[in-house]
Amino acid sequence: MINTYSRLFDNIKLNPVVEFYNGDFLEHDWSNASVIFSNSICFNASIKKTIIKKLEKLREGVYFITTCRFFPNNSDLFWDQLFSFKSKLSWGGAQVFIFQKTM
Ligand SMILES: C[S@@+](CC[C@H](N)C(=O)[O-])C[C@H]1O[C@@H](n2cnc3c(N)ncnc32)[C@H](O)[C@@H]1O
Repeated sequence: MINTYSRLFDNIKLNPVVEFYNGDFLEHDWSNASVIFSNSICFNASIKKTIIKKLEKLREGVYFITTCRFFPNNSDLFWDQLFSFKSKLSWGGAQVFIFQKTM
C-alpha cells in the first residue's frame, strides 16, 4: 500500500522497517507510528472508541488509513480526511479513508 500510494506520503521514507507483532493491538504502543492502517470494517463501537483514544496521543502529521467510516459523522476536529476511494479487498469491496492528524 505504501508503494502504491507513496506519492501521497512524500514525507515518509520508503522501504521502512516492518515488524510483526502477535497480540492485542489495543495493548500495543503505537506512539512512534507514522502510518496506522486499521482494517476496521467489522470493529464494534467499543474497539473503535479505544482506537480513537490511542489516535489522540499520536503526533501531528501521522496518517490513519481505515476501511470504514470511523469518526462520528466521519469527521473529527484533529483529523483531515485527505482521500476516500473504493478498494478491492480479499472478501470484496470496501471504502478506504485516509486521514492525516492536524494537531
Ligand atoms: C477485517 S479483519 C482483517 C484481517 C486481516 N488483518 C487483514 O487485514 O486482511 C479484522 C481483524 O482484526 C482482528 N482483531 C479485532 N480486535 C483485535 C485486537 N484487539 N487485537 C488484535 N486483532 C484484533 C479480528 O480478529 C480480525 O481478524
